[in-house]
Amino acid sequence: MSSPLEPDPAAILGHFNLFDPEHEKIKWAVFQHARQSCPVAHTSADGGGQYMVTRYEDVRRVLEDPETFSSTGVAPRPSPVTLNPLDADPPFHPDLRKILNPLFSRSFLMKFEPQMRKSAADLVDGWIDRGRVELISEYVAPFVGTVLAQIAFDEQDASKMERAIDIVTAVALEASDEAFFTLAVLAGEYIAAREDHPVQRNDVLNAITTGTVLGGRPLTEDERLGVMTVLFLGGLDTTRGAIGSIAYHLTRDPRLEPRLRDPKWIRQDMDEFIRLESPVGCLGRTATRDVELAGTEIKKGEQLLVRYDSANRDPAKFPDADELVFDTPRSGHAAFGLGIHRCLGAHLARIQITVAFDELLKRVTALRFASGGPDDVPWAPGIANGPERLDLTFDLV
Ligand code: HEM
Repeated sequence: MSSPLEPDPAAILGHFNLFDPEHEKIKWAVFQHARQSCPVAHTSADGGGQYMVTRYEDVRRVLEDPETFSSTGVAPRPSPVTLNPLDADPPFHPDLRKILNPLFSRSFLMKFEPQMRKSAADLVDGWIDRGRVELISEYVAPFVGTVLAQIAFDEQDASKMERAIDIVTAVALEASDEAFFTLAVLAGEYIAAREDHPVQRNDVLNAITTGTVLGGRPLTEDERLGVMTVLFLGGLDTTRGAIGSIAYHLTRDPRLEPRLRDPKWIRQDMDEFIRLESPVGCLGRTATRDVELAGTEIKKGEQLLVRYDSANRDPAKFPDADELVFDTPRSGHAAFGLGIHRCLGAHLARIQITVAFDELLKRVTALRFASGGPDDVPWAPGIANGPERLDLTFDLV
């Protein structure tokens, strides 16, 4: 039971709005209440209303049945542009994934690792002498922006690469409509240039301009731009949230530093951080037929919000789900999705997270909040989950 001063999760559930900063602050209590009392709850927030799927087993069921739960309407708010493969269904979806998957395998991506390390080290050089850093805007966002620009555009000309990095980093820093529009124009220019002047290079632009789907047709212009858009929508806020939330826990609990200094952390501990914080909180699905889910009747055409974050804190699947538990192996978290839409960029994210902490901890130790404490760190509401700012001080290694 909540006190008169605390918001009541039960009262909020019916109009829970993922974009409301006040709801963001109490979302874990709302999800806990939902899992116990109304696991597929209707929320009237944000226009037409949606069903929030909050238990792990129901989240899994929805994600593993794309025939009943279409990825049309995957964006909680309607998107003006195509977002394939994210908003695509079979048979188009698997064909598109076949074109893209090889470029996001771990072995393929490792060729970018030296560049990633250099980008991270250069960023640390920019603030190390100050003894203080706002880690998100001075390290995490420019790092993920730089890496993704290098991978998506694979630009050989250094000055053009710098321009692309600036544009992508602007989106990583502040996801404004203007910043995103500039990036979409840039992506369109790169696609057009590659169509006009094909080159034999194994990269994303080559894959989308020469790859074929559905028995041999090329991708349309819209679909090509959709792929580039999704890479930037899916690859910036997400990894930024993951690195930011791990840095938050590291600052909050100094006992974690030796763990992160042990190269073994990437095998198990990294996934435990990602499970706990779920850098992508939720995405949508649309019912293709009338269906019953955990006792709730959902009509054809209605939208569901699949809450990866709530599933990842479901105690029925993960004992002590609100805690970081490192020494008991956990498996099957939903933070990268489950089923056919499982994250294309999961290997990239893992490599980036590894490099970001490796390069950071080579130079600094004993991260501390510059002012206030862990409860003063602002977390943005919305789909992506992670601290907005981390003002930190540190000692030199
Ligand atoms: C820790 C970081 C990341 C997290 C937590 C994350 C999470 C997710 C989740 C939950 C999905 C499933 C969507 C669904 O069920 O509809 C997804 C799909 C996707 N992600 Fe990530 N992602 C991360 C990093 C990245 C990166 C770095 C990229 C950039 C390449 C990326 C690109 C994509 C794409 C293209 C899809 C769509 C896949 C499909 O529909 O088949 N993600 N991601």
